[in-house]
Amino acid sequence: MEGFMQSFWMYAYFAAAFATVFSIKWLSHPSTARRGVIIGEIGFTLAILGTLLRLEAVPNQYIAILIAIAIGAMIGAPMAKLMPMTSVPQFTALSHAFGALAAALVGTAEYYIAAEPPHGFTVVALIIEVLLGFLTFTASLMAFGKLQGLVPSPPITYKGQNFVNLTFLACGIVLGIWPMIATAPIWVFPAFTVIALIFGVMFILPIGGGDMPTVIALLNSFAGASACAMGFTLGNHLLIIAGALNAASGFILSMIMCKAMNRSFTNVLFGAFGQAQEKSGTKSEARPVHSASAEDAAMMMLNAQKVIIVPGYGMAVAQAQHKVRELADQLIKRDIDVQFAIHPVAGRMPGHMNVLLAEADISYDRLHEMEDINNDFGEADVALVIGANDVVNPAARHDKTSPIYGMPILDVDKAKHVMVIKRSMNAGFAGIENELYHDDKTLMLFGDAKGMVAEIVKEIGAQSPTS
Ligand code: TAP
Repeated sequence: MEGFMQSFWMYAYFAAAFATVFSIKWLSHPSTARRGVIIGEIGFTLAILGTLLRLEAVPNQYIAILIAIAIGAMIGAPMAKLMPMTSVPQFTALSHAFGALAAALVGTAEYYIAAEPPHGFTVVALIIEVLLGFLTFTASLMAFGKLQGLVPSPPITYKGQNFVNLTFLACGIVLGIWPMIATAPIWVFPAFTVIALIFGVMFILPIGGGDMPTVIALLNSFAGASACAMGFTLGNHLLIIAGALNAASGFILSMIMCKAMNRSFTNVLFGAFGQAQEKSGTKSEARPVHSASAEDAAMMMLNAQKVIIVPGYGMAVAQAQHKVRELADQLIKRDIDVQFAIHPVAGRMPGHMNVLLAEADISYDRLHEMEDINNDFGEADVALVIGANDVVNPAARHDKTSPIYGMPILDVDKAKHVMVIKRSMNAGFAGIENELYHDDKTLMLFGDAKGMVAEIVKEIGAQSPTS
């Protein structure tokens, strides 16, 4: 028994590593996401238990560790409970900030308290851990600030900025390499950490607030790489596995997001996208639009056989998902085929629409990814766009001057009728006009998404299902 307890941490780490792999796999689909969260939690609990029982890792420190866990839980649990869905990106940024800070502080402590000065590969891993950890800490805090409106959201740029940033980073790397090849003076390591912290701020300044979700996925990847390097420094296999998985999945996610927006990494990181948006967002097309009422919309949908609903960022802002579900229920009750078309970057974070619609208990079978449903718009009687804008803008297909040219879009303009719920003619994230609104077959339903859908539901409810 004693032998088992002594080696328990190894079994715990082994199981935790598997749990992390399955968690990431299951989190990739709404129907298995809950299972992914649970297995991830089990994995992390095992990892913590294993570490606590690995006596040589934490000699006589249990009280301090339990106090730290209690403080963390007291902050984390209310945050998770009270945070609105629309704030998930900024809270993700905060959690990366603290994860990365922890890795950087462990690396700093290792540098100073190691019995022998770190050398060889250990010092390489340690320098990567500290550089990425501190950089990710301040960059994530900046991303949080931009999304929360505490830091100006538009890109802050100046001439020669990329050169200044790269020179600064190069200085940091030189200071980081110094202890690897020679005994470094006492000021080198503190200077290196300060440069890493300042570089995190400089890295985020030229990026617009709207690009923060992509940047946060990249920072997630940096935090994972930092934790992976920490695993090498401490000789902890679980940290190496979990950190590497985190780094790879964060990087893949940011690439998927760039691809779905038809933008390159360099355009997101150095393109100052928000500035171009504001300029192009000011022009306004003179062509007329056709507006309609909730009653018109209800009548049109009651006469339809197939309705495809396209949710976007506005649905999230209005928190209209429950009303949207009521609308779908009313139509389905009347034998109307209702499906949902989800664009990969609709909203402001990966899976944003899936999470909201799942929260409202809309069946996963009705949610379709863009590639799977785009061909069906031609057969739809009504495409109902709720608070989406850029992801349905046909300019992406043909206007080479448009900032979204080349971005794959949902082909709602192929439906027989299009109805768009939004509050005004204002632009979306990319800051550009949407020619769809001026199409002869498009009806604009001006109003808040939740209120307008509620009105449509009321109008439909007033009609007997059999009439
Ligand atoms: P957007 O293009 O941002 O358009 C959202 C529209 O919602 C706005 O035009 C706005 O018009 C309307 N709206 C806002 N509040 C509303 C409310 N309470 N009720 C009704 N309508 C409301 O959204 P989208 O089509 O979902 O596209 C997402 C954009 O974000 C894309 O350009 C994408 O590249 C970008 N982006 C996405 C992600 C991820 S991962 N999803 C990450 C970074 C960037 P009104 O003001 O007139 O109401």
